[in-house]
Amino acid sequence: MKHKISPSLLAANFANLAEDIEMINRSEADWLHLDIMDGVFVPNISFGFPVIKAVSKLCKKPLDVHLMIVNPEKFIPEVKATGAKIMNVHYEACPHIHRVIQQIREAGMEPAVTINPSTPVFMLKDIIKDVYMVLIMSVNPGYGGQKFIEHSLDKVKELRMLIDKTGSDALIQVDGGVNEKTAPLLLEAGADVLVAGNAVFAASSPEDMIHQLKAL
Ligand code: DX5
Ligand code: ZN
Repeated sequence: MKHKISPSLLAANFANLAEDIEMINRSEADWLHLDIMDGVFVPNISFGFPVIKAVSKLCKKPLDVHLMIVNPEKFIPEVKATGAKIMNVHYEACPHIHRVIQQIREAGMEPAVTINPSTPVFMLKDIIKDVYMVLIMSVNPGYGGQKFIEHSLDKVKELRMLIDKTGSDALIQVDGGVNEKTAPLLLEAGADVLVAGNAVFAASSPEDMIHQLKAL
């Protein structure tokens, strides 16, 4: 399977989102990644459901919603109402993650689980067959434009082994500091989906950068 590219809207121009979404529609991007932050789980606040709904109306690509919030299960109906394909919750935010995964699936979305840089891959062992995707954070969540944490490459390799060993069909997504230098290493380590914020939106041609990342 060819890898997927999911540009992160966090690095877009919030004063003219429509223009950036039209670029995403024209581009080879597979999904659009939306970062929701609550100022509690992470030390920053981004945007919420009214913005996702507005984006959803214009965007032709499936929405990949990354919730960096406490108690994300409380918002399953709100995320569903945006039309999102994937609802991505943090492992660290859900003491009953197995239940949350089932609830997301029952609501008609693809469940994904994210782990922070300090959470080991082996914590996923008992849920790996239940998830559509695992997101390995390659920076500490909360901000775009941070430096890629090299150890994430080992985590991708370890997760690839866990998936292969268990017969899971989960996709491996990586988020944080992904650019034209780190992307080839991540793909070689076994990543399936790359999220890129600044690498795409700060490029002189975001559309060309998406093409470049997709062509790797
Ligand atoms: C960080 C977010 C990321 C962020 C990535 O908390 O989850 O999706 O937008 O930004 P870059 O690609 O600039 O590191
Ligand atoms: Zn993200």
